[in-house]
Amino acid sequence: MKITFYGHACFSIEINEINILIDPFISGNSLASAINLETIKADYILVTHAHQDHVLDVETIAKRTGATIVSNYEIILYYAAKELKGHPVNHGGTFKTADFSAKYVNAIHTSSFADGTYGGQPGGFVITANEKSLYVAGDTAVTMDMKLIPMTTKLTASIFPIGDNFTMGVEDAIIASDLVECNQVIGCHFNTFPPITIDTEEAKKSFSEAGKDLTILEIGESIEI
Ligand code: NI
Ligand code: MN
Repeated sequence: MKITFYGHACFSIEINEINILIDPFISGNSLASAINLETIKADYILVTHAHQDHVLDVETIAKRTGATIVSNYEIILYYAAKELKGHPVNHGGTFKTADFSAKYVNAIHTSSFADGTYGGQPGGFVITANEKSLYVAGDTAVTMDMKLIPMTTKLTASIFPIGDNFTMGVEDAIIASDLVECNQVIGCHFNTFPPITIDTEEAKKSFSEAGKDLTILEIGESIEI
């Protein structure tokens, strides 16, 4: 699995030449101005919830690429009305293809579109392919539901929000990594806006003191897990 960070909570995951894009918010993110929206590949767009900082570029990218949007029922209905291709799931359900599976799991947050349309209940995804599993928590507080994930899945890495204010912050993300039994964490949802500005060096230090590894990717940077 090759993971590329496009800023805020947007990642691309490449599996067997299939490109999965998560929560595209690029055109509205001044920190991601070096990323060209026109060249981003997507076969699937996974959407954790309907907030603008997760869906802003869904329509543009889905129209250009013909990607299938995978999200909760309400979000898929919203895009179906715009004649975009989608596959609805709901919490506990798994979307399966020949190349990967993506289970929609609980998150504690809210979910509405910028125009006020109800965006269903928010979630995260556990993406599994080639004997690796990646937990994309989405916007969430730490929640005991996270303990359910390692009962079925040995995680390779987790993408956690660490910016606090709208989601869990560093201290709770460390607890979350205990709950999911995975010490490899990739941070997101920090520094995009003033209320979620954090000291990333301090954050890495806190993880390391807890015996865990926090990866902070530069926007545009990729890692292989
Ligand atoms: Ni949100
Ligand atoms: Mn958000």
